Amino acid sequence: MKIKQYHWHHFFGGIALLLLIVQLLSGSVLTLFYTPHLNEAYASVQYLYNELSAVAWVRDTHRWAALFLVLAVIMHFIRSFLRKDYLVRESKTLWLTGILLFLPLLGFLVTGFILPWEWRGYWFMEMVPNYAGEIPLIGPSLSSFLLDAFTMPRALVVHVVILPIITLVLLDIHTLSKIKRRAGGLFLYVREHGLLTTPFLLIIGILAYALPMPSQDPAIIPMPLEGERIPTAEWFVLIFYVPYLYFKGVGATLFGFYIPLAIFLVLAIFPYFLRAKGNAVADKTKREPHAADKKGGLRRLLSPLRKIMGERALTKTAGALTVFLAAMALFIPLYAVSYASPTMGCNSCHNLTAGNRMGLPPPTFKDREINPNLKDNTFMVEHWFYPQVVW
Ligand code: HEC
Repeated sequence: MKIKQYHWHHFFGGIALLLLIVQLLSGSVLTLFYTPHLNEAYASVQYLYNELSAVAWVRDTHRWAALFLVLAVIMHFIRSFLRKDYLVRESKTLWLTGILLFLPLLGFLVTGFILPWEWRGYWFMEMVPNYAGEIPLIGPSLSSFLLDAFTMPRALVVHVVILPIITLVLLDIHTLSKIKRRAGGLFLYVREHGLLTTPFLLIIGILAYALPMPSQDPAIIPMPLEGERIPTAEWFVLIFYVPYLYFKGVGATLFGFYIPLAIFLVLAIFPYFLRAKGNAVADKTKREPHAADKKGGLRRLLSPLRKIMGERALTKTAGALTVFLAAMALFIPLYAVSYASPTMGCNSCHNLTAGNRMGLPPPTFKDREINPNLKDNTFMVEHWFYPQVVW
């Protein structure tokens, strides 16, 4: 089977679409086994690990595919950015919907962590209102609204109904409507992209088997630091909380909220302030002499390489290398600030055998008077990263 040009052009975008389908399928299975109730949610997850290992594997596939989905989306974004896709007039809607798709993705991650309702989920649920509370003016009322409104069934509805609908609508404008107009439609696209995605699917399947989330307590209780240095999907949301480790008050809010928000807004709207280019190809040829001038030295330096590899291969390699370096510039700091997080070790203390109030999250979880630690972001973030130190 010959893979068409546009598959390579949107290599990571296609992987993201395929992984989204994987999430849809695995998520549909998981919904059937999940009980959206404060006292039964975690038991329904543990039941999978103790009784239905195939479905437990589906659950861990759902977790690992989430990580790869986020990675693929970020790579797709870097590539589109470097290729200056936002300069093409017809692409502006694509650009905006692409950026907006980050929001439901974040929503999926957060609600996905909350749903199992062990202490990780409890922690995430408490951090969302804390975080919303940082927004000026509307913050405090938004925060208490989120706390009051939270119930397990509502979280489930957001995760399996509302967010998928938002994603589907944005995705349809972003790409689906275009794919459907092509010969062969979505089916052919999925079939051919499936081929490119197969290695990733294999890796996800193996990771899900080899590195499951320890949930079998009291049978298998993890060590407190388990999950340290292991890249779980939890990273990507933690990056917003890490500033609380290093800054107090305004500093933490600045790095954890205002700067990410500013970056997001700028990325969403900046193409609208640039002069639209009707035809990207014509534009490229216009700029060519100037670009060649500037890179004169580099071009001369590379000329032996060009002789060996040929112009086309060299350009392609240089492009791939740029994408790779840009990705590293993003992922290395992400890893550097979050590698110490023991994302799987919470059950070592927070399990039924560890004594009073250590099993399920307390029923008083909405009451910040009874559980004052919950509104102390510094305690919460330090407790996540160094649970063995901060009790
Ligand atoms: C070393 C044992 C230990 C580990 C590991 C641990 N915790 Fe805790 N955790 C505690 C203890 C003890 C408290 C009670 C602290 C207090 O009340 O002052 C607590 C409190 C909490 C609280 C505050 C709510 C409350 O009831 O006081 C949350 C939320 C929490 N833990 C989540 C987590 C998460 C998430 C992890 C994994 C990243 C984790 N814990 C790992 C021992 C641990």
